[in-house]
Amino acid sequence: TANPKQLVRDPGLLVVSNRMPVSVKRTAEGSYRLDKPSGGLVTGLSGIDKGASFSWYGWPGLPVPEEELQDLRSVLKEQHHAVAIPLDDDLADLHYNGFCNSTLWPLFHYEGCFSYNRGDWEAYQRVNQIFADRLAADCVDGDVVWVHDYHLMLVPEMLRKHGLLFNKKITIGFFLHTPFPAGDHFKILPTCKELLAGVLGSDMIGFHTASYAKNFKATCTSILGHKISHSKVFLGKRSVHVKVSPIGIDPDSFTRELAKPELRRLSDSLRDTYKDKRVLLGIDRLDYIKGLPRKIEALTQLLSQQPEWIGRLVLIQVVVPSRQDIGENQELFSTLNRLADEANRQYGKSVSATYHDLLTHIIFSGSDGYQPVTLLHSNVPFNELVTLYNAADICLVASTRDGMNLVASEYVASQQEHERKGVLVLSKFAGAAEQLAGSVQFNPWCLDDMVDALTKALTMSESERASRHEQNRKFVVQNTR
Ligand code: G6P
Repeated sequence: TANPKQLVRDPGLLVVSNRMPVSVKRTAEGSYRLDKPSGGLVTGLSGIDKGASFSWYGWPGLPVPEEELQDLRSVLKEQHHAVAIPLDDDLADLHYNGFCNSTLWPLFHYEGCFSYNRGDWEAYQRVNQIFADRLAADCVDGDVVWVHDYHLMLVPEMLRKHGLLFNKKITIGFFLHTPFPAGDHFKILPTCKELLAGVLGSDMIGFHTASYAKNFKATCTSILGHKISHSKVFLGKRSVHVKVSPIGIDPDSFTRELAKPELRRLSDSLRDTYKDKRVLLGIDRLDYIKGLPRKIEALTQLLSQQPEWIGRLVLIQVVVPSRQDIGENQELFSTLNRLADEANRQYGKSVSATYHDLLTHIIFSGSDGYQPVTLLHSNVPFNELVTLYNAADICLVASTRDGMNLVASEYVASQQEHERKGVLVLSKFAGAAEQLAGSVQFNPWCLDDMVDALTKALTMSESERASRHEQNRKFVVQNTR
């Protein structure tokens, strides 16, 4: 029987991703707090036009008892258009830490720590079914359901089956925020057919770059035997449109922040601290795909080969806590601390104090002696993020693979026309490299290549910096979200 609430709702857009636009956190006092999750997916989608019938479905991020969930639901809906799909803790763990982040994430980024087990796969299927069932119950005729990312690849087909069952006309889109690997690599996955069939339940599938879309279409032929044309995959009576649509940022939000007097003050003060130095900046989630150790190794190699930079070049690396239950990320954190300590002992003059406030800490470290590497393991509030981007001479993105990488665009958006026009030094294997042609690109698997790219950025003429920046800026302002 029809739910009377559904009859009064106009058709609208239902965005679905593993996380909602806000994550629910429990405070020490036992109440709840809502935080913006880190990562490009939520940033990239936050500019969506939120009409009256817009909802964003996702997992709250922790188990919330049903009676407490009721109170949260109205806050989520009214303030964030968000609808929580609660999951049992063990199931969420097998889905998120298991199949999503121990199987699909390393597989899609060509990382050797890929592992597979049937229990995780079963949990993945169950979670996808829970999402699809909930959406099928809430959908009305004419809705557009837009499913996001590798956590929910089976949802489109599961939903289509429901759609046929209940005779609702809904349009289903799917967007992958990660790379899609080459077919020869993708077929390592024992359930590769099921995943492809799951995504092909959509009417339209989007990727960040032409090479991910090409890999996907070729895989549909080589693994499932489907015919493909330029932008379509043919499945008997139906065809699926495959589209390249690189995600963008909202550059105006950076320009507005830069215009605030408080931000100018912070940025000037940071520049003043580093007035006789060049600042290399990195902002990344703590993740083994981000090439973080290599950044410190490249700086160390550069200082050893070109000692004229000792005392004149610093790396500020923000490491945003992420997926902390993944063993590889925990190991990575100790490796980074060790490498930073070694570099600072070898080339620095010791700096002692630590402050809670991020910028105070940097300003202090910069002014007291020389510390080649400053590692900040922290979330960064937006004003501090823009200050760092604005003050940096070079932004270094060293991902060994990365779906897009919005840090690259955010850096470009935070460099003002009349200022120094910082250089973006960008891994060839970040999706953004297909778009930001003004960047200096390098192969992150080759340390010498990274050192060459940094040297080029450090010694580039002002006119070359300006023309490269202009090329990047054009893309960032035209390709907004
Ligand atoms: C990054 C990735 C996305 C992913 C998101 C989720 O932005 O590029 O593909 O969906 O992280 O992060 P989480 O914190 O939920 O694991």
